[in-house]
Amino acid sequence: MTTPRIDTQGAPVIEELTEELREWQRALRAQFPIITAHPELAYLDSAATAQKPQAVLDTVHTYLTTTNANAGRGTYTWANRTTSLVEQARDRIRRFLNDPDPTRSAVHFTSGTTEGLRTIARDWLPGLLADGDEIVVPVADHEANIAPWLEAQRQLARQGVHIRVRPMPYQQASGDYDHTALTELAGPRTRFVAASHIHHVYGGNMNIHRIRRAVGPHAVICLDAAQSIGHLPVSVADLDVDFVVFSGHKAMALPGTGAVWARQSRGPEFTPGGWSGSPNTVGIASLATALDWLDTAGSDRIGQWTVALAARLTDGLRRLDAYEILGCQSSLAADASAQRRQGIVTFRHHAIDSGDLGFVLFSHGFMVRSDQHCQGSAGERTGSVRVSLHVYNTADEIDRLLAVLATLG
Ligand SMILES: Cc1ncc(COP(=O)(O)O)c(C=O)c1O
Repeated sequence: MTTPRIDTQGAPVIEELTEELREWQRALRAQFPIITAHPELAYLDSAATAQKPQAVLDTVHTYLTTTNANAGRGTYTWANRTTSLVEQARDRIRRFLNDPDPTRSAVHFTSGTTEGLRTIARDWLPGLLADGDEIVVPVADHEANIAPWLEAQRQLARQGVHIRVRPMPYQQASGDYDHTALTELAGPRTRFVAASHIHHVYGGNMNIHRIRRAVGPHAVICLDAAQSIGHLPVSVADLDVDFVVFSGHKAMALPGTGAVWARQSRGPEFTPGGWSGSPNTVGIASLATALDWLDTAGSDRIGQWTVALAARLTDGLRRLDAYEILGCQSSLAADASAQRRQGIVTFRHHAIDSGDLGFVLFSHGFMVRSDQHCQGSAGERTGSVRVSLHVYNTADEIDRLLAVLATLG
């Protein structure tokens, strides 16, 4: 097989990645005990949740065996240490996001992206909107980024405030947002736009700069970063968004962790209401360590690695007639001139049901997701198999997967 050369905007080809990057990946993979303990298995479901490196496991153990206490209550050392750990974790998130104005922004801990988006919809959005205002909702994205906004609309209607929900326009073939149609749709009453950074089914980078250009300088943009944190650099100094919401567990921290970052420059101040009770202290400790780990590893290099693996899988699948790859075809392959796909590849077999295909793949040791991926009602109507990659995955795993898929063709 000859691998076509690519220009600098194209996807890296795994053979062409430097020896340094391959050594770097080997050293990182070795830090995931659950991965190294099972060389016969391939974990290909990181978009659902990521595996945890030893450093995160160590933090959990050390915290629980040396410091465990509640935060913000107590006068003794463990409680004080825990309180400052939570505060330091807020700053860690700001640094991770390259926050240009950390004294102004807010960081609120949640159990994940879903709770983060719901908190914004419930506690903040009603204060932004007046009768006749419009919000844009990404109806073919993850349900977690749809349902909260529709609930906010109903909540406001009960108070006599009627807002209009405008479905985000999409390009049919690629699953990308249609920025031209969005420009036409957006007007002076468009106050709020919910968007995803990386699409959880198609893997596309949804081009947030173009959304800002389409909707103008005044609309609030709320970014669902569930699939981008830890997969590519997310810099709020570059992205003109107002909220970044993500799940810690997809970024290598414990389940039950996540955060909302709020810029606090458009609309009312973000101050989540109500008594939220004791924080998930050990989860927050794990999140701070996970972000340290990701920064040391380098989100840009993780992105290069996983994009290269995804391109390899796509190229292989395109040679197998029995499979249909979802999303834009031209920007998926390794020789594409512009590569905006991250490490997510979703496909269907023309004759085998996706659920059945998932079982067959697991019988060969491949852990993939096979269903409708919690996509909103404007998304795919039938199931598919999603392979989602992280830094611990290898080219060998992709080649083994392709070999099995080929036998089913
Ligand atoms: C794009 C996107 N948004 C939101 C979520 C929900 O994340 P969580 O279940 O951690 O709240 C997911 C989970 O898969 C996702 O992929």
